[in-house]
Amino acid sequence: MTTPDSETAPVEVASDPMRPEAFAVRQVARETGDTFTLTLVAMSGPEPRPFAPGQFNMLYVFGVGEVPISISGDPARPELLVHTIRAVGATTRALQKLKRGAQVGVRGPFGTSWPVDQAHGQDVVLVAGGIGLAPIRPALYHILRHRALYGRVVLLYGARTPHDILYARELREWRGRFDAEVEVTVDRATVEWQGGVGVVTKLIQRSPFDPMSAMAMICGPEVMIRFASLALEKRGVTTASISVSMERNMKCAVGVCGHCQFGPHFVCKDGPVFRYERIEPIFGLREV
Ligand SMILES: Cc1cc2nc3c(=O)[nH]c(=O)nc-3n(C[C@H](O)[C@H](O)[C@H](O)COP(=O)(O)OP(=O)(O)OC[C@H]3O[C@@H](n4cnc5c(N)ncnc54)[C@H](O)[C@@H]3O)c2cc1C
Ligand code: FES
Repeated sequence: MTTPDSETAPVEVASDPMRPEAFAVRQVARETGDTFTLTLVAMSGPEPRPFAPGQFNMLYVFGVGEVPISISGDPARPELLVHTIRAVGATTRALQKLKRGAQVGVRGPFGTSWPVDQAHGQDVVLVAGGIGLAPIRPALYHILRHRALYGRVVLLYGARTPHDILYARELREWRGRFDAEVEVTVDRATVEWQGGVGVVTKLIQRSPFDPMSAMAMICGPEVMIRFASLALEKRGVTTASISVSMERNMKCAVGVCGHCQFGPHFVCKDGPVFRYERIEPIFGLREV
């Protein structure tokens, strides 16, 4: 199986993309009060399952339901499937209850990916809000592993409160690097919080990247995507250089059922990563 290297690449999926494959939970890590990370390994053996940064899997909890969840692990370690999940409803809460050794059905990987290869030679600006850091993390792993291929690398991350910050240990490591700029802000501070307060889009104004040569990748709530794109455009980044990851309800994940329709696009097949210039005209319209 090959994986696409950009949101324009064709999507290739397993031979029967509708049949879940059995995986076992190898590790459960609590991230925040409502968010956790599952590391899964295939029951059939540890052979690599290549994926591209930004792609997602359908996770099936037997007897409960199936949900699309982005892959949040390292593309250079494709034998481990890593998913960071926020428990918001029936299926994600059932996933939260799984213990080491439990079985999960997995279909995928599906969808388009962050344009990490097209960004060679350019500055990269990653903007994430809340759980949106999970789909962005594989892109950052890839970029930092191939650091010499990129210009400046900037990660701007916003969480609701300090308690909602994902991957705190890794954020500290990335902040400690001399070759990456990492800024974290929260909407509401606690007394012990010493970092920035305010919306993540505010960070874009003073961030050290060259707008003429920057590729931006945004993942978070739609309102945040809209304001982040506006702030980037204000700095001079064109909509052709901005990619965003979209979410819609999904069933088949292979462009058949129509559940994920977004204007003329199917988010499962044409996305979830879109060039912003492709979807800007319909972005935020209620009826799409
Ligand atoms: C391509 C793609 C990638 C995704 N990646 C991730 C990921 O990496 N991690 C992750 O935690 N989630 C991710 N999601 C969202 C995830 O699929 C949903 O949270 C999940 O389907 C909810 O299913 P449920 O059965 O638990 O809740 P449901 O019973 O379907 O919903 C319960 C309640 O939660 C609300 N809800 C549903 N989805 C969301 C949401 N996304 N955000 C906030 N409230 C919601 C519903 O409106 C409802 O009120 C992704 C979605 C897509 C389309
Ligand atoms: S989920 Fe069926 S078409 Fe996208």
